[in-house]
Amino acid sequence: MGNVSSDADTNGERIVPMRLQKFLARAGVASRRGSENLMTAGRVKVNGIVITELGSKVDPLIDEVTVDDIPAHITDTSTTLALNKPVGYLTTMSDPFDRPCVADLVPVTDHPGLYPIGRLDGDTTGLLLFSTDGQLGNALLHPRHHVSKTYEATIEGMLNRKTIHRLEAGITLTDGMTAPARVSVIEKGKQNSIVRISIHEGRNRQVRRMFRAVGHDVCALKRISFGPIQLGSLELGHWRLLNSQETTALDEVVQRSMLK
Ligand code: URA
Repeated sequence: MGNVSSDADTNGERIVPMRLQKFLARAGVASRRGSENLMTAGRVKVNGIVITELGSKVDPLIDEVTVDDIPAHITDTSTTLALNKPVGYLTTMSDPFDRPCVADLVPVTDHPGLYPIGRLDGDTTGLLLFSTDGQLGNALLHPRHHVSKTYEATIEGMLNRKTIHRLEAGITLTDGMTAPARVSVIEKGKQNSIVRISIHEGRNRQVRRMFRAVGHDVCALKRISFGPIQLGSLELGHWRLLNSQETTALDEVVQRSMLK
């Protein structure tokens, strides 16, 4: 088993010895904390030997790691994950003024090179995807690829049919006409309503500006899907790795974008 003093896990493209829990996290088995629990439960073996000591290191190119006797590998060097972003976090990987930023919430040391795909305003919650794969980000964000994003907006007042039609057809903002959108009312109330809106553009504060333009301020905004990925029941402030079906669905988006 690799047993070097450095905790570095990448050296350019070459993966060098790393802590076992970091290896398991990079292999997509569990979070680093979850991997530590697997180790202390005696479920992790390295070269056939149960390893419970949390400081143990492995060389991914040499050592055979299993969890419950199932081999774990770092095969795909790219990682994509979903975060449920809370209010008050900036979509940036660092902030010169030390304000809370989304990098504080995702496993950046386990997955070097992770970056957010697009951005959400500080006061928006919900689905923010991160990846180490630059091509994926380009494919999902390129305006020509029309990847749909759905938001749940709590707005002031009640939308009437005419206003829904205006939002769907496209309205004029200071930076031009918006592309067609889909709008459905989830909950109607005199004070507030909850409205779902799907758009495929990514202009600054677009959803808030669209509602304001038709006379309804947004009180709260949450993104619930991005392309084929749903926020689902992911808790606020938590992240999860995408499962294989989601990864395949995103690969298809990338493939389709390369044909355009
Ligand atoms: N539209 C907005 O107004 N804000 C966001 O964060 C995302 C879309």
